[in-house]
Amino acid sequence: MMRIDIATLFPEMCDRFLTESIIGRAAKRGYIETHCHQIRDYTLNKQKQTDDYPYGGGCGMVMNAQPIYDCCQEIIRQVQEQGRPRPHIVFMTAAGARYNEEHAKRLASYDSLLLVCGHYEGMDERVIEALADEEISIGDYVLTGGELASLVVADSVLRLQPGVLAEAKGYQEESHWNGLLEYPQYTRPEVWEGRAVPPVLLSGHHANIDAWRAEQSVERTKNRRPDLYEAWLKKEGKG
Ligand code: ADE
Repeated sequence: MMRIDIATLFPEMCDRFLTESIIGRAAKRGYIETHCHQIRDYTLNKQKQTDDYPYGGGCGMVMNAQPIYDCCQEIIRQVQEQGRPRPHIVFMTAAGARYNEEHAKRLASYDSLLLVCGHYEGMDERVIEALADEEISIGDYVLTGGELASLVVADSVLRLQPGVLAEAKGYQEESHWNGLLEYPQYTRPEVWEGRAVPPVLLSGHHANIDAWRAEQSVERTKNRRPDLYEAWLKKEGKG
């Protein structure tokens, strides 16, 4: 059963997300385990300050290495106390490798993950050097902190765990699973605001339906995401 820990200055924000909806229900049922930890609890100064001015000058503040390090050491201890191996440690930074479904599948195979969130202008590079197995960015834009990024990673990894979705099919037919975008979906009514459902979906002919969906997937990917389409052609040996 997979465990994910998040080290952050905003544990309530992360916890709120992880205890709701599909992920929250899976945790209550014992299919996964999540824990959010307050980095500030590990400061050693009276003001509980977690950041300081950057060496070399510049604007903004930099998170100190020590509280992040001590928080992570305590999390590692708690994980190992459960009889688990040391967690795989991922730092959320805008300078990390860009995240995609392949990363999600790979991260989903670890016994546990420790996701570390920075805030302000960044964190002291030395704590990343000391602890990180990898650094991940969720996209080419800058967030005010790593919290949303860590939740994106946690959500995309945890939904791949057994028991979280109703059935494995739930994710195997979705966008990005096989490198293509998902085909369009429809539900009742048959005609809505003058728009009819594609007739093939009402035919009951499963081979035709599968063929139509496959064709829609390929067409959509070609039109919307030529980058994914080229990669898919290569992978399928059609390039
Ligand atoms: N922290 C700030 N921006 C980020 C991004 N794009 N991905 C991950 N962590 C971040």
